[in-house]
Amino acid sequence: MMTDKPQCEIGMIGLGVMGRNLLLNMADHGFSVAGYDNDLAKVNNLRQEAQARDVHGAEDIKTLIGLLRCPRAIVLLVPAGPPVDAVIKELLPYLQTGDIIIDSGNSYFKDTDIRAHHLTEQGIQFLGVGISGGEEGARRGPSIMPGGPKEAYERVQHVFEAVAAKVNNEPCVAYLGSGSVGHYVKMVHNGIEYAMMQLIAETYDVMKRGLGLDDSQLSTIYSEWNQGELNSYLLEITSHIFSKIDEKSKKSLIDEILPVAKQTGTGMWTSQSAMELQVPIPTIDLAVAMRDLSVFITEREQASKIYQLPQPRFTADKKAFLSQLRHALFAAMIITYAQGMALLRIASDKYEYHLDLETVSRIWRGGCIIRATLLEDICAAFHAQKDLSNLLLDLNLSHQLIAHQEHLRQIVGQVSQLGIPIPGFMVSLSYLDAYRSAWLPDNLIQAQRDYFGAHTYERIDSKGTYHTEWEKI
Ligand code: 6PG
Repeated sequence: MMTDKPQCEIGMIGLGVMGRNLLLNMADHGFSVAGYDNDLAKVNNLRQEAQARDVHGAEDIKTLIGLLRCPRAIVLLVPAGPPVDAVIKELLPYLQTGDIIIDSGNSYFKDTDIRAHHLTEQGIQFLGVGISGGEEGARRGPSIMPGGPKEAYERVQHVFEAVAAKVNNEPCVAYLGSGSVGHYVKMVHNGIEYAMMQLIAETYDVMKRGLGLDDSQLSTIYSEWNQGELNSYLLEITSHIFSKIDEKSKKSLIDEILPVAKQTGTGMWTSQSAMELQVPIPTIDLAVAMRDLSVFITEREQASKIYQLPQPRFTADKKAFLSQLRHALFAAMIITYAQGMALLRIASDKYEYHLDLETVSRIWRGGCIIRATLLEDICAAFHAQKDLSNLLLDLNLSHQLIAHQEHLRQIVGQVSQLGIPIPGFMVSLSYLDAYRSAWLPDNLIQAQRDYFGAHTYERIDSKGTYHTEWEKI
């Protein structure tokens, strides 16, 4: 008997902001899709927004499954952690061998590996897919970072390529490799995102408290900066933020926002993973730490009274200083990307991801939160040298950094005199200085370790390990 039941290409579980918008994006590209959420209001919301599009709302999982063509492809966009496992558990009884579950949330990569292992044993294919771009990205074109079995990716490739952001007509999506690589790459993307946001926030502090600029001047400056080498999504939105008037107070909205930063964990995971793999990413670590410090608002208020210092006045030439600040920010951005990419390089070896970093930088050029013109140079660096261990060793980027590093140094020096915290800038400069230093004082650390713990040390002049009785006369 013929049935006119829809044979949807994709099913979505989780119709929050990201899920609903991504589904509508798919429908805009001509795909027949179905969505389910345990909150009926969200299902109705989807139906309303769908209008004439080929979008079906399901009120339970069984109905959703019945709407999908086989092998089924089901995207999960639910909060990371236990909700993902709960949905998978609910789904499993309805699935058949060959069906694909696509977790598109910000899941922890080690959870993705466990889930993939578990589901593969049951004949279900599992893709861990990072999606970046927020609400607007999901609706109009995100950057998509897929990982998992290649054949499973190929089943949905045409959908992802259609909905992804495009740069020079190239979709900002590419198969990245097996296992949890998609979620790992998304995690590092977010680590870089945290660092870039911290650096921009520091420039705001310097310009507002140090130079006394007002919000409208800040909006103009960020907009100007966004025209040049610093061109990036985060600077673009920062410029808009400073021009936004609060409907309630009729003042600048930015000044009404409590300066306490929240986080959902991806930045911290990046730092944790880097520590585990022993890859230094201090600008990212610092960005996480500064969000943490922002929460201690009561203690900081107490400390501000104890450590009250006369606020030195900024007396130098503002225009020249602003130009330096702009160059310093660019230098710190290069250093931030270098740290994130170095982590990806080592994680790829450790977890056998076989990541192509040119591809990663290519799909970050559009749709995602860290998209920036600088990514063109980063792409070119990995194109020129596939196994480049650190972007700071690339010829073009190193030339750019050499041209900007003095500004970074000047800014760090001048702003520390003003007593305004710019730890992101400081740590970026220190990373550069340490990375470009062929000698570091770690011979002393080794001597101390050997002194108190007989941990031994190696010598410059001969092979082997040595121990000294340091107190023996
Ligand atoms: C993106 C964002 C997105 C989310 C962040 C926010 O790429 O679209 O990174 O995933 O906005 O996870 O993270 P925090 O809540 O930790 O700031």
